[in-house]
Amino acid sequence: MTQFPKNFLWGGAIAANQAEGAFDRDGKGVSILDVMSVGSKNQPRQRRSLDDQTAFFPSHDAIDFFDKYESDIALLKQLGIKCLRTSINWTRIYPTGVESVPNEKGLAYYDKLFDCMIRNGITPVVTLQHSDTPIYLADHYGGWKNRKVVDYFLNYVRTIFKRFRTKVKYWIVINEINSVNFVTWFGAAGENLTESEKEQASYHLLLANASAVKIGKSINPNFKIGGMVTDCYSYPYSCRPEDVLLSVRDKHKNIFFADVMVRGYYPSYKIQELKRKSISIKQEAGDDDMLHAGTIDFLAFSYYSSHVSSTQKDEVIQGNLLQNIIGKTNPYLQTSDWGWQIDPLGLRTSLNDFYDRYQIPLFIVENGLGAVDNIDDNNYVEDDYRIDYLKQHIQAVKDAIDYDGVNVMGYLVWGIIDIISGTTGEMAKRYGLVYVDRDNYGKGTGRRYVKKSFDWYKQVIRTNGENL
Ligand code: BG6
Repeated sequence: MTQFPKNFLWGGAIAANQAEGAFDRDGKGVSILDVMSVGSKNQPRQRRSLDDQTAFFPSHDAIDFFDKYESDIALLKQLGIKCLRTSINWTRIYPTGVESVPNEKGLAYYDKLFDCMIRNGITPVVTLQHSDTPIYLADHYGGWKNRKVVDYFLNYVRTIFKRFRTKVKYWIVINEINSVNFVTWFGAAGENLTESEKEQASYHLLLANASAVKIGKSINPNFKIGGMVTDCYSYPYSCRPEDVLLSVRDKHKNIFFADVMVRGYYPSYKIQELKRKSISIKQEAGDDDMLHAGTIDFLAFSYYSSHVSSTQKDEVIQGNLLQNIIGKTNPYLQTSDWGWQIDPLGLRTSLNDFYDRYQIPLFIVENGLGAVDNIDDNNYVEDDYRIDYLKQHIQAVKDAIDYDGVNVMGYLVWGIIDIISGTTGEMAKRYGLVYVDRDNYGKGTGRRYVKKSFDWYKQVIRTNGENL
């Protein structure tokens, strides 16, 4: 009989900026996401002025998790999840990022939230930065390309680790650190970066990640601190040697971030690339030691789709704004309503690939299907398509553990309650096992209704993955 490990972390995930709302309450500052208007599958979110009456900013109210967390956590307790991943919004704690004293009201909110989770038997898994860099740091310092942002981030990190040292054990430092490759505004690395600025921003993000690990361990040696990437496994389109070599190059582009976080130094392929491009990274004394000392305990990753590397660039995948790797559509796969290719077996391949390379525990901290849901007259969503998606992906994890011997710590369904989409800001792109009555423009009662997938996942967790 196939077995998931006894303490497997079954759970769900959300992010502060996509769930909390209350964007200006209790002294919170404005984050980069708070000025991004709603977009769509074909229209990326845009930065707009806060007093632009024609713009709609989805993060301002999101799903009101800020006020509704108690009833939401109670619902998640019924689901039986062992852990919930959420993030701390940096701007609740340091509104502009540069204050010397943290905002006590912001800290108090997360105290209440984590206490509530713990009371309900749900272990918090906490991301320190999920795309919500203070806008002040983006505008006045140019975001992550400026080394000062690393210092401000570490100031915030120190505050958080000290405050929650007994409440939180599992930490993820920076959400999808490699997304700086695709959408620089996401992490406020700045817009229109030159290649060398992007490399410098990447370096700062990696340095911040390592320093956070080091700081965390000095505050509580029992912390488990992970680094996180979005998985971008790329198949060669054909066995043409050129396609195969391109897939290696594409892989380097993304796995570089994981290589540094796990191994503690820049890999030789990156060093050669920087030399070739005459890019020199500005470093300070002690940086190399810091990268080396701050390696991660586990590698966390999000998985939605695989990709295809092809030297023929005629057929670019449309609709995937976040993971816009140039490549061909995979003819063997189906796509979601938003054009993301669905590939459960690719998850197993990725797990093997990561584990072969690093031999450290892996944590799938985001996986799920963003789809249009139709709620019926009885307030029920029969989301068999979501059940099917999750079932196949969990089966792939099961096989990776049981057949291939990969060490997987846990699996989290992304957007366990419907939240606003990260890439488009739409509410209509739903991942949840719980429906939230709200539309793309914030209209609706905000009431929660369980979907068919809720009961399905409940029995998956109850049987520790035996009944899929
Ligand atoms: C991940 C992000 O990249 O993808 C999440 O960490 C995001 O914040 C998720 O929500 C799915 O993207 P989307 O646009 O479908 O919400």
